Amino acid sequence: MTAILPLPPGSTLGILGGGQLGRMLAQAAAKLGFDVAILERETDAPAGRVAAHAIIGAYDDPLALNALAELADVVTFEFENVPAASVEALMALGVEVAPGPLALAVAQDRVDEKSFLNARGVATVAFAAADSPETAVAAAAAVGTPCLMKTRREGYDGKGQTWVEHAADAAKAFESLGARPVILEAAADFVRELSIIAARGRDGAIAVYPLAENHHEKGVLRRSVAPAEVSASAAEQAERIAARILTGLDYVGVIGIELFELKDGSLLVNEIAPRVHNTGHWTQDGCEVDQFEQHIRAVAGWPLGPTAARAQVEMLNLLGDEAAGWATYAAQPETRVHLYGKREAKPGRKMGHVNRILGSL
Ligand SMILES: Nc1ncnc2c1ncn2[C@@H]1O[C@H](COP(=O)(O)OP(=O)(O)O)[C@@H](O)[C@H]1O
Ligand SMILES: [Mg+2]
Repeated sequence: MTAILPLPPGSTLGILGGGQLGRMLAQAAAKLGFDVAILERETDAPAGRVAAHAIIGAYDDPLALNALAELADVVTFEFENVPAASVEALMALGVEVAPGPLALAVAQDRVDEKSFLNARGVATVAFAAADSPETAVAAAAAVGTPCLMKTRREGYDGKGQTWVEHAADAAKAFESLGARPVILEAAADFVRELSIIAARGRDGAIAVYPLAENHHEKGVLRRSVAPAEVSASAAEQAERIAARILTGLDYVGVIGIELFELKDGSLLVNEIAPRVHNTGHWTQDGCEVDQFEQHIRAVAGWPLGPTAARAQVEMLNLLGDEAAGWATYAAQPETRVHLYGKREAKPGRKMGHVNRILGSL
């Protein structure tokens, strides 16, 4: 069975993952007339509670994947660590999965990701791979120190990373990250971090949002301001980079591309996320069509919507207990509150965000 595209309203759309990104995707899908089926690991997760169907199971549970395929002809995901085998299983059941397996494979492995980018003419920091204490020392010497060691797979929010000051320290650093395959990255001497959220439709059309300027604390995004004040050259570079990546991956959906802006104005790609992205949350209150609706439009085979900014927005993540301050934010006329419905406010956990309108454009 193959999906009818464009997917007509009234159809059921599947999402792998039950977190806040799945929740906001489900809300956007509902707005366009779709029913949503979420596959999530735990009952009572943020996404399942706003969806028509919540299937509880592991992402590689054949019964759960079958149940999802029964309901949905088109499936997408909210996080990049979906097992490749799950995507293949869904595709074998006749489900259209977007973004596709190539985008997932490239985004799941930091070495494959940078190799793909460089092969497409997209610049990154210098890097080397290692899979033993000895090769880690050699890799650190090759890229130069200080350098940043990251696990090749499964890192997020700054987890699975450690700085290496001297090449000889790389052996211990390798052990400290669990003796798993790693990448060693040259330190990026950036003046600031930017990102571009972009989308590609099933017809190959590309749409890009204005750039965001991002500030991290302890590896976690704290705030973004967008549209960022950038030179015309930075905007052009970012758009060219986005187009190369989207085309190179034959991509369908929204992608988040994290960038380092260097002193000379050139941009390096830090990493790509084959999904809606935290630095794109500002689009909910700043743009014609936000990143969540855009992603649903793309995977459903609908035309992409306009991405122009209507306002400059400061997006602030509400981490842990900060979400308890919702009433203060709700009382500010320039602030829009977005809460994820998470039951427990663990320290550092993303509980919600606010979009503060800095000014209309
Ligand atoms: N090569 C690098 N040089 C300097 N800083 C870096 C480098 N790589 C990452 N960082 C910093 O660490 C943050 C998190 O790293 P990133 O690779 O984006 O991992 P994650 O998957 O956890 O988001 C980045 O936003 C940036 O601030
Ligand atoms: Mg990152």
